[in-house]
Amino acid sequence: MKVVAVYSVKGGVGKTSAAVNLAWHASQKHRTLLWDLDPQGGATFLLGVKPKQKAKADVHALVKGKTDLADVVRSTEDKKLDVIPAHDSYSALDVELDGTKRPERQLDKMLASLSKHEVVVLDCPPGMSLLSEAILRAADVVVVPLVPSPLAMRSLDQVTDMVTDMKKGRPKIVGFLSMVDRRKTIHRDVADRLPQESKHVIDVAVPASSMVEKMGVERAPISTFAPRSVPAKAYGELWKGVRSALSL
Ligand SMILES: Nc1ncnc2c1ncn2[C@@H]1O[C@H](COP(=O)(O)OP(=O)(O)OP(=O)(O)O)[C@@H](O)[C@H]1O
Ligand SMILES: [Mg+2]
Repeated sequence: MKVVAVYSVKGGVGKTSAAVNLAWHASQKHRTLLWDLDPQGGATFLLGVKPKQKAKADVHALVKGKTDLADVVRSTEDKKLDVIPAHDSYSALDVELDGTKRPERQLDKMLASLSKHEVVVLDCPPGMSLLSEAILRAADVVVVPLVPSPLAMRSLDQVTDMVTDMKKGRPKIVGFLSMVDRRKTIHRDVADRLPQESKHVIDVAVPASSMVEKMGVERAPISTFAPRSVPAKAYGELWKGVRSALSL
Protein backbone atom coordinates (compact mmCIF):
# COMPACT_ATOMS: atom_id res chain seq x y z
CA MET A 1 0.00 0.00 0.00
CA LYS A 2 1.32 3.41 -1.02
CA VAL A 3 0.28 6.49 0.93
CA VAL A 4 0.08 9.95 -0.62
CA ALA A 5 -0.58 12.88 1.73
CA VAL A 6 -1.72 16.18 0.26
CA TYR A 7 -0.48 18.61 2.86
CA SER A 8 0.47 22.20 3.51
CA VAL A 9 0.72 24.34 6.59
CA LYS A 10 -1.24 26.94 4.62
CA GLY A 11 -5.00 26.84 4.18
CA GLY A 12 -6.96 27.36 0.97
CA VAL A 13 -4.12 26.49 -1.42
CA GLY A 14 -5.82 23.68 -3.35
CA LYS A 15 -5.08 20.60 -1.21
CA THR A 16 -8.57 19.14 -1.29
CA SER A 17 -9.02 19.78 -5.02
CA ALA A 18 -5.69 18.07 -5.71
CA ALA A 19 -6.43 15.15 -3.36
CA VAL A 20 -9.75 14.36 -5.05
CA ASN A 21 -8.29 14.55 -8.55
CA LEU A 22 -5.17 12.57 -7.65
CA ALA A 23 -7.33 9.87 -6.07
CA TRP A 24 -9.48 9.73 -9.22
CA HIS A 25 -6.41 9.35 -11.46
CA ALA A 26 -4.91 6.70 -9.19
CA SER A 27 -8.22 4.80 -9.26
CA GLN A 28 -8.13 4.47 -13.05
CA LYS A 29 -5.58 1.72 -12.52
CA HIS A 30 -5.28 0.99 -8.80
CA ARG A 31 -7.78 0.28 -6.06
CA THR A 32 -7.70 3.63 -4.29
CA LEU A 33 -8.94 5.06 -1.01
CA LEU A 34 -9.29 8.74 -0.18
CA TRP A 35 -9.30 9.42 3.55
CA ASP A 36 -10.79 12.82 4.33
CA LEU A 37 -8.95 13.84 7.48
CA ASP A 38 -10.35 17.37 7.53
CA PRO A 39 -13.44 17.93 9.72
CA GLN A 40 -14.53 20.51 7.09
CA GLY A 41 -15.25 17.45 4.92
CA GLY A 42 -14.42 19.11 1.59
CA ALA A 43 -13.21 15.94 -0.13
CA THR A 44 -16.21 13.99 1.19
CA PHE A 45 -18.48 16.62 -0.35
CA LEU A 46 -16.61 16.74 -3.66
CA LEU A 47 -16.90 12.97 -4.04
CA GLY A 48 -20.67 13.24 -3.73
CA VAL A 49 -20.96 11.25 -0.49
CA LYS A 50 -24.51 11.55 0.80
CA PRO A 51 -25.08 12.51 4.46
CA LYS A 52 -26.48 9.09 5.32
CA GLN A 53 -23.30 7.47 3.97
CA LYS A 54 -21.16 9.50 6.35
CA ALA A 55 -18.87 7.64 8.72
CA LYS A 56 -20.55 6.67 11.98
CA ALA A 57 -17.44 5.88 13.99
CA ASP A 58 -15.95 8.79 15.83
CA VAL A 59 -12.28 9.40 16.02
CA HIS A 60 -11.96 8.12 19.59
CA ALA A 61 -13.08 4.63 18.52
CA LEU A 62 -10.71 4.69 15.54
CA VAL A 63 -7.66 5.89 17.43
CA LYS A 64 -8.26 3.48 20.31
CA GLY A 65 -8.64 0.63 17.82
CA LYS A 66 -12.24 -0.14 18.88
CA THR A 67 -13.26 0.33 15.25
CA ASP A 68 -11.03 -0.67 12.33
CA LEU A 69 -10.48 1.86 9.59
CA ALA A 70 -11.55 -0.82 7.13
CA ASP A 71 -15.05 -0.73 8.69
CA VAL A 72 -15.65 2.94 7.86
CA VAL A 73 -14.74 2.70 4.17
CA ARG A 74 -17.53 3.75 1.77
CA SER A 75 -17.73 3.18 -1.97
CA THR A 76 -18.12 5.98 -4.53
CA GLU A 77 -19.55 6.08 -8.05
CA ASP A 78 -16.15 5.06 -9.40
CA LYS A 79 -15.69 1.33 -8.97
CA LYS A 80 -12.09 1.46 -7.86
CA LEU A 81 -12.37 4.58 -5.71
CA ASP A 82 -13.42 4.34 -2.07
CA VAL A 83 -13.59 7.02 0.58
CA ILE A 84 -13.39 7.35 4.33
CA PRO A 85 -15.69 10.33 4.86
CA ALA A 86 -14.79 13.06 7.30
CA HIS A 87 -16.43 13.06 10.70
CA ASP A 88 -17.09 16.09 12.92
CA SER A 89 -15.05 14.43 15.64
CA TYR A 90 -11.89 14.78 13.50
CA SER A 91 -11.44 18.20 15.06
CA ALA A 92 -10.36 16.22 18.16
CA LEU A 93 -7.92 14.01 16.24
CA ASP A 94 -4.92 15.84 17.65
CA VAL A 95 -6.10 15.43 21.24
CA GLU A 96 -6.86 11.74 20.64
CA LEU A 97 -3.42 11.16 19.13
CA ASP A 98 -1.85 12.90 22.11
CA GLY A 99 -3.46 10.30 24.34
CA THR A 100 -1.60 7.44 22.65
CA LYS A 101 1.85 6.09 23.42
CA ARG A 102 3.44 6.98 20.10
CA PRO A 103 1.23 9.60 18.45
CA GLU A 104 3.43 9.98 15.38
CA ARG A 105 3.07 6.25 14.60
CA GLN A 106 -0.68 6.06 15.19
CA LEU A 107 -1.95 6.79 11.66
CA ASP A 108 0.44 4.18 10.32
CA LYS A 109 -1.02 1.70 12.77
CA MET A 110 -4.60 2.56 11.81
CA LEU A 111 -3.82 2.28 8.09
CA ALA A 112 -2.47 -1.22 8.69
CA SER A 113 -6.03 -2.56 8.96
CA LEU A 114 -6.56 -1.78 5.25
CA SER A 115 -5.62 -4.60 2.96
CA LYS A 116 -7.55 -4.05 -0.28
CA HIS A 117 -6.22 -0.68 -1.34
CA GLU A 118 -3.07 -0.12 -3.38
CA VAL A 119 -3.09 3.66 -3.06
CA VAL A 120 -4.34 5.72 -0.11
CA VAL A 121 -4.66 9.50 -0.53
CA LEU A 122 -4.88 11.59 2.64
CA ASP A 123 -6.61 14.95 2.39
CA CYS A 124 -5.10 16.83 5.32
CA PRO A 125 -6.31 19.86 7.22
CA PRO A 126 -3.94 22.86 7.15
CA GLY A 127 -1.69 23.60 10.10
CA MET A 128 1.22 22.12 11.99
CA SER A 129 0.34 19.71 14.77
CA LEU A 130 0.76 16.19 16.09
CA LEU A 131 -1.58 15.12 13.31
CA SER A 132 0.75 16.56 10.67
CA GLU A 133 3.67 14.66 12.19
CA ALA A 134 1.65 11.45 12.05
CA ILE A 135 0.60 12.20 8.47
CA LEU A 136 4.17 12.78 7.30
CA ARG A 137 5.24 9.60 9.08
CA ALA A 138 2.54 7.56 7.34
CA ALA A 139 3.16 9.03 3.88
CA ASP A 140 5.40 7.69 1.12
CA VAL A 141 4.93 10.92 -0.81
CA VAL A 142 3.75 14.29 0.43
CA VAL A 143 2.19 16.51 -2.22
CA VAL A 144 2.41 20.25 -1.52
CA PRO A 145 0.33 22.76 -3.51
CA LEU A 146 2.21 26.06 -3.94
CA VAL A 147 0.35 29.23 -4.87
CA PRO A 148 2.99 31.33 -6.66
CA SER A 149 3.63 34.15 -4.24
CA PRO A 150 6.73 35.03 -2.25
CA LEU A 151 5.16 32.97 0.54
CA ALA A 152 5.13 29.84 -1.62
CA MET A 153 8.77 29.06 -0.95
CA ARG A 154 8.13 29.51 2.75
CA SER A 155 5.34 26.96 2.80
CA LEU A 156 7.56 24.52 0.90
CA ASP A 157 10.44 25.15 3.30
CA GLN A 158 8.16 24.47 6.26
CA VAL A 159 7.35 21.01 4.88
CA THR A 160 10.94 20.22 3.92
CA ASP A 161 12.12 21.27 7.40
CA MET A 162 9.52 19.02 9.04
CA VAL A 163 10.59 16.10 6.84
CA THR A 164 14.30 16.72 7.42
CA ASP A 165 13.70 16.69 11.19
CA MET A 166 12.20 13.19 11.00
CA LYS A 167 14.49 10.46 12.30
CA LYS A 168 13.21 7.83 9.87
CA GLY A 169 10.45 7.06 7.38
CA ARG A 170 10.90 10.36 5.54
CA PRO A 171 8.43 10.79 2.66
CA LYS A 172 9.42 12.17 -0.74
CA ILE A 173 8.20 15.71 -1.36
CA VAL A 174 6.38 16.63 -4.58
CA GLY A 175 5.51 20.34 -4.77
CA PHE A 176 3.43 21.70 -7.66
CA LEU A 177 2.10 25.12 -8.64
CA SER A 178 -1.50 25.69 -7.72
CA MET A 179 -4.04 28.38 -8.72
CA VAL A 180 -1.60 29.97 -11.18
CA ASP A 181 -2.84 33.20 -12.75
CA ARG A 182 -0.43 33.97 -15.58
CA ARG A 183 -1.85 37.47 -15.98
CA LYS A 184 -0.01 38.36 -12.78
CA THR A 185 3.72 39.07 -13.22
CA ILE A 186 4.59 37.58 -9.85
CA HIS A 187 2.70 34.36 -10.61
CA ARG A 188 4.50 34.04 -13.97
CA ASP A 189 7.89 34.67 -12.42
CA VAL A 190 7.48 32.25 -9.53
CA ALA A 191 5.79 29.59 -11.70
CA ASP A 192 8.66 29.68 -14.20
CA ARG A 193 11.42 29.79 -11.61
CA LEU A 194 10.32 27.46 -8.83
CA PRO A 195 10.50 24.09 -10.67
CA GLN A 196 14.03 24.98 -11.82
CA GLU A 197 15.22 26.19 -8.46
CA SER A 198 13.82 23.49 -6.19
CA LYS A 199 14.35 19.78 -6.59
CA HIS A 200 11.12 19.29 -4.67
CA VAL A 201 8.91 21.11 -7.22
CA ILE A 202 7.77 19.41 -10.40
CA ASP A 203 6.96 21.31 -13.57
CA VAL A 204 3.18 21.10 -13.20
CA ALA A 205 0.98 24.18 -12.90
CA VAL A 206 -2.73 23.94 -12.17
CA PRO A 207 -4.16 27.24 -13.45
CA ALA A 208 -6.62 29.36 -11.50
CA SER A 209 -9.79 28.28 -13.26
CA SER A 210 -13.51 28.30 -12.67
CA MET A 211 -13.47 24.68 -13.91
CA VAL A 212 -11.78 23.64 -10.66
CA GLU A 213 -14.39 25.51 -8.65
CA LYS A 214 -17.09 23.78 -10.67
CA MET A 215 -16.12 20.53 -8.93
CA GLY A 216 -18.18 21.89 -6.03
CA VAL A 217 -21.25 22.11 -8.26
CA GLU A 218 -20.76 18.80 -10.06
CA ARG A 219 -19.52 17.13 -6.87
CA ALA A 220 -17.14 15.10 -8.99
CA PRO A 221 -13.46 15.00 -10.03
CA ILE A 222 -12.76 17.40 -12.91
CA SER A 223 -11.82 14.66 -15.39
CA THR A 224 -15.34 13.24 -15.17
CA PHE A 225 -17.02 16.41 -16.51
CA ALA A 226 -14.26 18.39 -18.28
CA PRO A 227 -11.57 15.87 -19.22
CA ARG A 228 -10.01 18.07 -21.93
CA SER A 229 -9.77 21.20 -19.81
CA VAL A 230 -6.33 22.59 -18.96
CA PRO A 231 -6.67 21.95 -15.19
CA ALA A 232 -7.83 18.36 -15.79
CA LYS A 233 -4.71 17.76 -17.87
CA ALA A 234 -2.54 19.41 -15.21
CA TYR A 235 -3.93 17.08 -12.52
CA GLY A 236 -3.17 14.17 -14.88
CA GLU A 237 0.44 15.36 -15.14
CA LEU A 238 0.57 15.77 -11.37
CA TRP A 239 -0.53 12.15 -10.92
CA LYS A 240 2.22 11.03 -13.33
CA GLY A 241 4.78 12.82 -11.15
CA VAL A 242 3.35 11.32 -7.95
CA ARG A 243 3.11 7.86 -9.51
CA SER A 244 6.75 8.00 -10.49
CA ALA A 245 7.73 9.17 -6.97
CA LEU A 246 5.78 6.17 -5.62
CA SER A 247 7.54 3.84 -8.11
CA LEU A 248 4.16 2.58 -9.34
N1 LIG B 1 -6.94 25.90 -9.54
C1 LIG B 1 -7.96 26.53 -8.96
N2 LIG B 1 -8.61 27.54 -9.59
C2 LIG B 1 -9.66 28.17 -9.00
N3 LIG B 1 -10.14 27.86 -7.81
C3 LIG B 1 -9.54 26.85 -7.13
C4 LIG B 1 -8.42 26.13 -7.66
N4 LIG B 1 -8.06 25.18 -6.77
C5 LIG B 1 -8.90 25.30 -5.73
N5 LIG B 1 -9.79 26.30 -5.94
C6 LIG B 1 -10.88 26.76 -5.06
O1 LIG B 1 -10.29 27.39 -3.93
C7 LIG B 1 -10.95 26.98 -2.73
C8 LIG B 1 -9.96 26.26 -1.83
O2 LIG B 1 -9.52 25.09 -2.50
P1 LIG B 1 -9.30 23.72 -1.73
O3 LIG B 1 -10.46 23.43 -0.85
O4 LIG B 1 -8.88 22.71 -2.72
O5 LIG B 1 -8.05 24.18 -0.84
P2 LIG B 1 -7.52 23.54 0.54
O6 LIG B 1 -6.05 23.82 0.57
O7 LIG B 1 -7.95 22.14 0.66
O8 LIG B 1 -8.27 24.44 1.63
P3 LIG B 1 -8.35 24.12 3.23
O9 LIG B 1 -7.00 24.50 3.76
O10 LIG B 1 -9.45 25.01 3.70
O11 LIG B 1 -8.63 22.66 3.38
C9 LIG B 1 -12.12 26.12 -3.17
O12 LIG B 1 -13.26 26.93 -3.29
C10 LIG B 1 -11.71 25.60 -4.55
O13 LIG B 1 -12.81 25.37 -5.40
MG1 LIG C 1 -8.95 21.12 2.19
